[in-house]
Amino acid sequence: MSGFDDMDVDTIWMNGDFVDWEDATTHVLTHALHYGSGVFEGVRAYDTDEGPALFRWEEHLDRLFASAKPYDLDIDYTREELTEATVELLDRQDLASCYVRPIAYYGYDSLGVSPKDCPTDVTIAAWPWGTYLGEEALEEGVEVMVSSWRKHASSQIPTNAKTTGLYVNSMLAGEEARRNGFTEAIVLNKEGNVAEGPGENLFLVRDGEIFTPGLSESILDGITRDTVITLVEERGYTVHDDVSISRGELHTADELFFTGSAAEVTPIRQVDNVEIGSGTRGPVTEELQQAFFDVVESGEREEWFHYV
Ligand SMILES: Cc1ncc(COP(=O)(O)O)c(C=O)c1O
Repeated sequence: MSGFDDMDVDTIWMNGDFVDWEDATTHVLTHALHYGSGVFEGVRAYDTDEGPALFRWEEHLDRLFASAKPYDLDIDYTREELTEATVELLDRQDLASCYVRPIAYYGYDSLGVSPKDCPTDVTIAAWPWGTYLGEEALEEGVEVMVSSWRKHASSQIPTNAKTTGLYVNSMLAGEEARRNGFTEAIVLNKEGNVAEGPGENLFLVRDGEIFTPGLSESILDGITRDTVITLVEERGYTVHDDVSISRGELHTADELFFTGSAAEVTPIRQVDNVEIGSGTRGPVTEELQQAFFDVVESGEREEWFHYV
């Protein structure tokens, strides 16, 4: 039994071929399994009014190739080939609204830390995936804790690369939070400033202005972060996207929310049992959430969609 059994999916694209779901396997001596040497993306496709479409696909491809760079990982497929493969993958499985997971990783050849003789394997999977932090979370907001685990600094491991191995940090923080009865964590960076969630960027609203940690705060350069910055600027808000946010500012914020391809726009109603603002979804968060869902449901903003 697996969590995928109930889903109507049967095909994965693997190194150029469409293979049956159960055949998309790799050797136990795969380099990436031992050393976390893979890079990946998490992309949503929405069933928009204009038809099924991948949201901000081009930016996800940009980041996939950029993530591969520091690791010298040669992705042997062009953007067009990966796009064609993904579109056909969704088509073959009749997937409209779903989550897409491309991954490129050092494969099977030898097991020294140096991956020099290992091939780069590339696969793409897709499956239906509902709201990441729960349906209720979108309306009510989530309760989070500041993790005792710090985010590694970008001087230790590039944090702007979406690398598989990095997610042990996210796992530690997220599981610590859930063990303590919270839905999600916030991680501080090495300097003790607010970095992000384990799989989300973080935004703070104060006195009608919007703040989010800058890229030098050891965060992932989130694509939803960029979407939200564009949407808030268009609505006339002042956005500070290059700031440090101290832990204490979390508690005194008027509103806080997470953004991410999986989490979309999720309000935060409590941090460490302290109510944020009125302790429920705030008005600015609601407005931005509405703006975000209007875009992804309508599919009207052509430059952000790759229609399937
Ligand atoms: C650590 C981390 N930060 C932020 C994000 C949000 O990024 P995006 O909006 O591109 O999904 C993610 C999710 O990919 C993440 O894993």
